Amino acid sequence: MSGKTIVVGVSGASGAVYAKRLLELLAADKRVARVFLIVSSGGMRLLKEELGLAPKNLAELPAALVGRAAAKKLEYLHNADIGAALASGSYPTDGMVILPCSLATLGAIASGVSDNLIRRAADVHLKEGRPLLLCWRDTPLNTIHLENMLRVARAGGVNFPLSPGYYFGAQQLDELVTQFCCRVLARLGLPQEKQRQWKGTK
Ligand SMILES: Cc1cc2nc3c(=O)[nH]c(=O)nc-3n(C[C@H](O)[C@H](O)[C@H](O)COP(=O)(O)O)c2cc1C
Repeated sequence: MSGKTIVVGVSGASGAVYAKRLLELLAADKRVARVFLIVSSGGMRLLKEELGLAPKNLAELPAALVGRAAAKKLEYLHNADIGAALASGSYPTDGMVILPCSLATLGAIASGVSDNLIRRAADVHLKEGRPLLLCWRDTPLNTIHLENMLRVARAGGVNFPLSPGYYFGAQQLDELVTQFCCRVLARLGLPQEKQRQWKGTK
């Protein structure tokens, strides 16, 4: 199949609005053929708390997040389905991002604990040398979190903290969210026209 295959994991850290925007951008991107969406139970809770989304039929989740037309490219996979194609390195993908990434999921990945599909798919991306971005969010951080970040970085993962930049003078949350997601996509080899670039100051 031509076009990129991207895996998006949503875990139980605050920032569900970022997951929604990332999926919208991926769905609209002609270079992307397929997006797999996996949501942990914590992620489900966040989607409900922060976006008011709790579809009875989970197959409807992509449409609830990005709209029915845009959702055609998105495939929802259950986090308990550790037998899904993504659980094997033999299934080709072009990268994975976990956004938002809880510190629990960070810790599991750093420890090689692949007990659900998000964690297993992340492990597969690391062992196959494919891009893996972990957009963790919390503050403050303890030494366990810091050591886990270092372990993931040493294994080839990218610590991509959910920390938007303020230097473009964005007045709206929407713009901050979009610009952060554009940075994520650029790191996955999908630079966006919407991404603003710092031109330098005198
Ligand atoms: C409303 C809400 C907000 C949360 N925010 C965060 C957060 O920002 N960062 C974090 O690491 N955990 C956060 N948590 C805790 C995680 O959801 C919890 O540790 C969960 O077990 C993570 O599991 P998961 O990674 O499989 O989703 C939050 C929980 C709730 C209910």
